[in-house]
Amino acid sequence: MDILVVGGGGREHAIIKKLRENKEVDRIYALPGNGGIARDAECVPVKATDIEGITAFAKKVRPDYAVVAPDDPLVMGCVDALTNIGIPCFGPDAKAAVIEGSKVFSKNLMKKYGIPTARYHVFEDAEDALYYLETAPIPTVIKADGLALGKGVIIAETRGDAKDAVKAMMQDLKFGKSGARIVIEEYLEGPEVTVLSFTDGKTVVPMISSMDHKRAGDGDTGLNTGGMGTIAPNPYYTDEVAARCMEEIFLPTIRAMNEEGRTFKGCLYFGLMLTKDGPKVIEYNCRFGDPEAQVVLPLLETDLLTVMKAVTEERLSEVDVKWSDGYACCVIAASDGYPVSYEKGYEITMPDELWPYVYIAGAAEEDGKLLTSGGRVLGVTAVRPELREAIDASYDMLDQIDFANKYYRVDIGQRALRAGK
Ligand code: AMP
Ligand code: GLY
Repeated sequence: MDILVVGGGGREHAIIKKLRENKEVDRIYALPGNGGIARDAECVPVKATDIEGITAFAKKVRPDYAVVAPDDPLVMGCVDALTNIGIPCFGPDAKAAVIEGSKVFSKNLMKKYGIPTARYHVFEDAEDALYYLETAPIPTVIKADGLALGKGVIIAETRGDAKDAVKAMMQDLKFGKSGARIVIEEYLEGPEVTVLSFTDGKTVVPMISSMDHKRAGDGDTGLNTGGMGTIAPNPYYTDEVAARCMEEIFLPTIRAMNEEGRTFKGCLYFGLMLTKDGPKVIEYNCRFGDPEAQVVLPLLETDLLTVMKAVTEERLSEVDVKWSDGYACCVIAASDGYPVSYEKGYEITMPDELWPYVYIAGAAEEDGKLLTSGGRVLGVTAVRPELREAIDASYDMLDQIDFANKYYRVDIGQRALRAGK
């Protein structure tokens, strides 16, 4: 059985390593993959956003199944294109991926169906937005409507910052046309939880909850990044909260998408804030999180391919999705200076026996050597019976991995440890 995976980061590496656990899997093609993924799959130099290139390659090799992991190809209709040429696929079609592709769509969906989220206003005109900000409650949150590489959200602590954000998005088009339309929303407070879920549009199976660490610096300081580390499960996500999320958020979202004629099949990511008024949706993503996948998938006991195919074939209710009892911690090593500017091209060295626990995000292979090629370079995940052990073990492994200008946060999981007591 041959599988094609679209994408080339740490998340895709985690998906590929998990798929490899299925003995029936022969070849895995990664488009484009990266120098580290090349050790676990056949990398093909086709960009994840080159939908024509992806379908042309798929027509040639006829994989038995495909997994489209990143947001852009999903929003661009990669699943539609592959399905059209007869290749069964994991991931939502373009109509459903709009739940991440447009913040205005997702906010309006939540409003229409009574799904708890921050109060908001939509603006298509910068002058109107600036006028609104004269009296808006501060802090406030400004969001570009479209995809912006995870950078289209500004938490403004002052009116001036809020106005600057609006000007940057709407007038200077800092995020291109993604920012031509914006959402300004209420600032919410509380612990954040990520819940990824498998859904075939009929059944929703939440995965183990997780906690991301988005800021670049220790103690949640500095700029927002793609994520500097994760732990799972998230101690704030108690059984009681989970039951409430299922009733008030997960099932209503699945039903709402069906009502809209946009049935969602794939991994639906719920970014939640546990406010004092109950759980509220901060964001939906139409895909696995990165680096959430790197802690959630290692805890999955059921075969991933079996679950994915059941999603595609709309028989998820028949599969018993099981999780191990332990804890996982993933620490990301980045190039110093990320997310602003950084040097790359440095050799990465590590003991071979660590490889099963390492997910490469940004590295190229040259003459058998792995060289850093991105901001986030790699993540290392440990699974242990206790959270503290998982944290210690992932840092121990990270200590054995070297490259010049290696940067990582030293406090991944500390907040969760304090909460768990
Ligand atoms: P995103 O890029 O959509 O993942 O958002 C980045 C981060 O901004 C989230 O993880 C939250 O920490 C924060 N955020 C987004 N919306 C709000 C909000 N309404 N109130 C407070 N924080 C928010
Ligand atoms: N780690 C956050 C995301 O994948 O959007």
